[in-house]
Amino acid sequence: MQTRTQFFTTPIYYVNAKPHLGHAYTTIAADVATRFKQMDAHDTHFLTGTDEHGDKIVQAAQKENLRPNVYVDKISRLFQDLWPRLCIRNDQFIRTTDPAHIQVVTNLLTRIHDKGDIYFSSYEGQYCFGCERFYQDRELVDGKCPDHGVAPSLIKESNYFFKMGQYQDWLIDHIKTHPGFIHPGQYETELLSFLKEPLEDLCISRPKSRLTWGITLPFDDNFVTYVWFDALVNYISALGYPDGPLFQKFWPGARHFVAKDIIKPHGIYWPIMLKAADIDIFDGLNVHGFWNVSGSKMSKSVGNVTDPVAVTDTYGVDAFRYFLMREMVFGLDANFTEDVLVSRINADLANDLGNLFSRVLSMHGKYFKGIVPQMDFDRHPDLSLESDAQKAIHTFHKAMAGYEFHKALAGVWQFISRMNKYVDENEPWNLAKEASTRPMLAAVICNLLEGLRTVACLIHPVMPGTSRKMLAALGMAIPDKGFYLLAQIHSWGQIQPGTRVDKPGILFPRIDVPPKAVSQDKTAPEKKASAEYTPELKPHITIGDFDRIDLRTGTILSAQKIAGSDKLLTLQVDLGADTRQVVAGIGKYYTPKDLVGKQVVVVANLAEATLMGVTSQGMVLAAGTKKELVLAGFDAPVLPGTAVK
Ligand code: ME8
Ligand code: MG
Repeated sequence: MQTRTQFFTTPIYYVNAKPHLGHAYTTIAADVATRFKQMDAHDTHFLTGTDEHGDKIVQAAQKENLRPNVYVDKISRLFQDLWPRLCIRNDQFIRTTDPAHIQVVTNLLTRIHDKGDIYFSSYEGQYCFGCERFYQDRELVDGKCPDHGVAPSLIKESNYFFKMGQYQDWLIDHIKTHPGFIHPGQYETELLSFLKEPLEDLCISRPKSRLTWGITLPFDDNFVTYVWFDALVNYISALGYPDGPLFQKFWPGARHFVAKDIIKPHGIYWPIMLKAADIDIFDGLNVHGFWNVSGSKMSKSVGNVTDPVAVTDTYGVDAFRYFLMREMVFGLDANFTEDVLVSRINADLANDLGNLFSRVLSMHGKYFKGIVPQMDFDRHPDLSLESDAQKAIHTFHKAMAGYEFHKALAGVWQFISRMNKYVDENEPWNLAKEASTRPMLAAVICNLLEGLRTVACLIHPVMPGTSRKMLAALGMAIPDKGFYLLAQIHSWGQIQPGTRVDKPGILFPRIDVPPKAVSQDKTAPEKKASAEYTPELKPHITIGDFDRIDLRTGTILSAQKIAGSDKLLTLQVDLGADTRQVVAGIGKYYTPKDLVGKQVVVVANLAEATLMGVTSQGMVLAAGTKKELVLAGFDAPVLPGTAVK
């Protein structure tokens, strides 16, 4: 069988500032995806790097009184050194100042120029130095760049342009005929709607009179190429385009991870550049949302630019990786606060996983002296956790394959809850009292050990260190590659009788007082309780408490009465990244027909519950008394999945 290949990339980050939380997230996501593909028997290649040319970099170097080449070496090193600290195992690190990269950019420019798709022309326009691009008037907000909030400068100069319009219909068709090319779907919609307007040609050069820190155009040495025509090419230059063996092997399976800020260059310029150069188009783009910190956009002036090193030094790498992957719905924005991080560590890691692990291993130590007992799984089918484990593996596999990291982890944690309940239901401490129930005790403990083995294997991509620690404690050999293939996880009964299973140290200590290493949360301002409120409702929660509740906009896709109840309806609600089933007690006030298409507020991180036999994955908000009830909504249409704050 031919091995399947997968090539993952991150953006190459600008070296005008040190790495922050956002860079860490994308690179960790790509690392998690790579490790998952390896578990799924793919041959992988994982590339990241730094983008080192341009005005911004020259300006940053000047501020530090360094020559650009010295400055870029220094900042690029910060990125290169960060990744191993975050347990990121990139196969390659590319820099746009690498001579081999410069060579490929030069070849590509020659090729596209020869074809006639690059022309020379004079141009006057509004230029934002922060974004390093010209803006159309209609794109400006109050005359200012929407990203940087500064008025652009009027610049007139002659430059080289790349013709894009002739490829517009081809691109629209490519997007439409390749489902998943832009993932998740909301960004496909965004790109297609942008492509309804005619595409402007792309300015690809800067005169050397204004900038020398770039790659000289092969057809005019008075100019350097600029930003995207340099940066995007890294994805193929790294693989040794055109003849390199890595290029032959990995380019067909290329997926780029990016955030929504650079969706246009990746979703429009890049495929068109490839098309113009007769190079195969990449497999797709995985686009994620933005991390805000304590409710605001990260910025130097707000002082909330979060340093991943500080977070991992305080809380540990695995906890940080887990939090990022569990908390953000891939595609939507998310909020980082230290309080939410700490509550996730305490609830999910210290409590659910950590306690289960130490509870099971202590019981095993106490009742079996730490030696796995002989036992026949087939003789106790009623005590088996195998089908719950299969379900967790299945959910995990499907969600990871669709880059829905939060869902994959939620599936594993559902299994962990199941095991915690199983301990309480089966009361091993009682089974240990009588000789006649010892075989059942052995069955219960062995099933739990197998369940923990399954969890240890599945968390490898997100928490490689914890996975190893758990496997080692369970007496499992760690394969040379450091993980078990998905296909090897399923079979039940892998921990051999007679194996010594060590009593573990604590996996995740509970954090009682947040060390506040990262950012200070603001406390909600005291408000006077108004007359309508009972005095007990005086505000007493902090922003951090409120941040724990994930409120999202949802669009009701369908509604159905639950048989046997006049109150309960089952709603299918579109939350952007996924569709949720929500049971709502609004049946007396709304007919199913009225509800379809309504936009509502959904509590999106409520633990799953079952009402009248129906699973509910959230709650819709409504105002009301016993007599009357009105759903909370919006006074203008909103995108499903938007955070409500
Ligand atoms: O755009 N939340 O580099 P860049 C999540 N050099 N991710 C974030 C983020 C946030 N708040 N802030 C940044 C460039 N990122 C170009 C790319 S690629 C050929 C050239 C991450 O340093 C996210 O991946 O501005 C985003 O797309 C990227 O950093 C932008 O990095
Ligand atoms: Mg940027």
